[in-house]
Parts: sequence; C-alpha cells; structure tokens
Amino acid sequence: MSVSPPADLEALRISSFFNEPTASLVSGIANDLEFVRRTNISRALEFHEILAASHFVTVPKILSTRLTSELLANYDFSAMTGRFIQAAKGGDWTVHMIDETLSSFHVDTGSEPLSQLQLCYSMISLICKIAGVLPSDIMTTKRWINRYRSGEYITPHKDTTGDFQSVLCLAAPPSECGGYIETENGHQILLQPGDMLISHASEVRHWTTPLRPTSLNPQPVRVTAVCRFYVFGGKDPLSAVAFYD
Ligand SMILES: [Fe+2]
Repeated sequence: MSVSPPADLEALRISSFFNEPTASLVSGIANDLEFVRRTNISRALEFHEILAASHFVTVPKILSTRLTSELLANYDFSAMTGRFIQAAKGGDWTVHMIDETLSSFHVDTGSEPLSQLQLCYSMISLICKIAGVLPSDIMTTKRWINRYRSGEYITPHKDTTGDFQSVLCLAAPPSECGGYIETENGHQILLQPGDMLISHASEVRHWTTPLRPTSLNPQPVRVTAVCRFYVFGGKDPLSAVAFYD
C-alpha cells in the first residue's frame, strides 16, 4: 500500500488527537499529558540513564487515575477480539490487539483513543528522550491491550521483536493481589494506574506474578496498554511496513 506523507505530521497528530468522537476525553488527556510531560522532561535524562543501565524504567503518574478510567471506558472487551494465551504456552491472560497494521510511523495517527494517546506529540517526545532516539528514527509501532484476571500471569520470556516499548498501566489492584513485573536482572515493578513503563523487553527476560484474589478484591483485574516501537536498522519487521513513496 502506498500513501502520501502529510505536510505537517505533528500538526496532524495533534489535530487527530482532538478529533471526534472522543474530543473531550483526549483534550483532557492532552492537557494532563502536557503538564506531566513538562514535569518529566527535566527528568528525561535520568529516566534514560536508568533505562540504558537496566532496560526498565518507570515514569510515574503519566496519566491521572480519572483519565485512565475514562480511557478504559472506551474499550468494550467483550466486543473486542481477544487472544487468550494458554498457560502451557507461556502464561494465562488475554491480548486485545488494537493495531498491528505496521503502518509507517510517519503517517500513523491512530484510530482509537489509546493509539492517539500513544502517538501524540507529548507522549512521543517524552518517550523518545527517554529511549535516546529521535522520532525520525522510528519506523513503525504495534499496539495492544493486555488484560489479566484472577490467577493470570505471563511466564519468563524475552519479547521476540521490537527495539523498545511503552506500557501504560490502566488498571491494577492493590499490591496484595500481586501482578508484579519481575526481571532476570533483579527488578520488581508494581505499576499503578497512570504509570508508564519504558523497557527493552527483547533484551532481558521478564514475567509477571499471578493475580491473587483477596477478600477485599475477590476479582482483581490488571490492564496495560502496550506500544512497541521499531526503529530503522533495528529489530524487524522491515518487510511488513507500509512505507509511503
Ligand atoms: Fe514481554
């Protein structure tokens, strides 16, 4: 497929971010994000150094709890195609793919709120500073939602593709319910709603601990939105990307 590049990509991203039918939602997020970005941008070098040294870094509270709830409300999981991963094959949870078209990053504006959020200027500029790349280095992305319920987890693995990825936590139960991300280099990470994890998930083995029900939380649920980034000259898929002329 061949498409024309926009005259002003960032303007398109930002205008797309405010399109109906989610204008009030995304404008709220954009305002929120802009504030968080300004706060975090001064710490971007610090985040970058942690990522470079350990392959995982958490940027706390990139979204407010209210906005994570509003975002989640846009997704009807019962109506979305879900890929349930069998325990014997590496865990037990549901993957809801939201975009695996591998469109060129430089024309991709996202067709639903999470994609628009993950591709908007405020988010990309912060993530790129932390990852130590330029937006022009990015070839394509892939985006999905992970949903873990009671007893569910992912076993130790390295992601098979991708150069770095962001994980936005949209829902998480209290710590006594588990759902920790653990890594072979000794990290134990408990993401709270609104936190963002940036990682080199294909470099270090990682896994999650099973969600456990408690009397106060008999049906714990953990939801994360993943954006996997591929850079030019990095880990494939080179051949699958829809480049523009
Ligand atoms: Fe992973």
